[in-house]
Amino acid sequence: MNSTTNIATTGLTKSFGGVRAVDHATVEFQDGKINAVIGPNGSGKTTFFNCVTGMIRPDSGTVSYRGRDVTGKAPHRIAAAGIGRSFQLCRIFPRMTVLENVLAAARPRGVAALLGSARGTAEIERARGWLRRVGIDHLEGVEARDLSYGQQKLLELAGVLMAEPETIMLDEPAGGVNPALIDRIATLVRELNAEGRTFIVVEHNMELVMSLSDHVVVFDRGRPIAEGPPDTVRADPAVLEAYLGV
Ligand SMILES: Nc1ncnc2c1ncn2[C@@H]1O[C@H](COP(=O)(O)OP(=O)(O)OP(=O)(O)O)[C@@H](O)[C@H]1O
Ligand SMILES: [Mg+2]
Repeated sequence: MNSTTNIATTGLTKSFGGVRAVDHATVEFQDGKINAVIGPNGSGKTTFFNCVTGMIRPDSGTVSYRGRDVTGKAPHRIAAAGIGRSFQLCRIFPRMTVLENVLAAARPRGVAALLGSARGTAEIERARGWLRRVGIDHLEGVEARDLSYGQQKLLELAGVLMAEPETIMLDEPAGGVNPALIDRIATLVRELNAEGRTFIVVEHNMELVMSLSDHVVVFDRGRPIAEGPPDTVRADPAVLEAYLGV
C-alpha cells in the first residue's frame, strides 16, 4: 500500500458451491486513474465488484479503500466511504420518471416527500445538474422504461453521481449501448476523471478499454493473471491464451 492506493484487495476469494468465482485475487488500483478490469465471461469480474462494494461477503481475503479496511462492510457503508457503482444489468425504476429515478438513487425511500418539500428543491436542482451533465436533462419527465438502453445507462450513471462518489465502479457501461452513446459515456468518464474521480471499469469492448484506461487488470477463472498499461496487457501471451482458451 502507498499513499495513492485507492481500492486494494488481498487474497480475495468467493465460491458459489463448487465454483471459485473469485480466487485469491490480490489487486491494487491507484487514485486518480481510469482502471479497467477485463476477462472472459464468467471470470469473476462482477463477483469481484460485488465483494468490493459489500453486495457479497467474501469467503476470505481483505478489501481496503484508501488504506481503511472495509472487508464485509454493508453496501451503504461502502457507498458512504466514497465508492459508487453501476450494475451490469442496469438498475433503474422503469415506471418512474427520469428525474424521479435520479432522486431515488440518492434517497431510496424519500422521493415522494422530497418532491413535495422546500428542502427537496436543492436536491432537484442537483439532480437536474447531473442529468444535464450526462446529456439527458431534456428527458426528465419521461418514464425510464421509454428510454433507449444507452440512455438508461446514462440515467443510472446520473444516479451514481448524485452520491458524489470519489471512486466509481462501472460494470460494462458500454454493453448493449449504441456507438454514439458509447462515445458520450467515454467522454464523461474522461471528464469526471480529469476532475479527480477514480474509475474502475469492467468492459468487454476492447477498443474502449484500450483507449480509455491507464491501467488494465485481466481476470481469468477468478484470478488476476496480468496487469499493466493497455499496450503491455494486450501483448501478454497469458491474456491471449485466456481469451482464446488455448
Ligand atoms: N450468485 C451466484 N450464484 C452462483 N454462481 C454464481 C453467482 N454469481 C456468479 N456465479 C458464477 O461465478 C462465476 C463468475 O461469475 P461473474 O458473474 O463474476 O463473472 P463475470 O466475469 O462478471 O462474467 P461476465 O463477463 O459474463 O459478466 C461464474 O461461473 C458464474 O456462473
Ligand atoms: Mg459480469
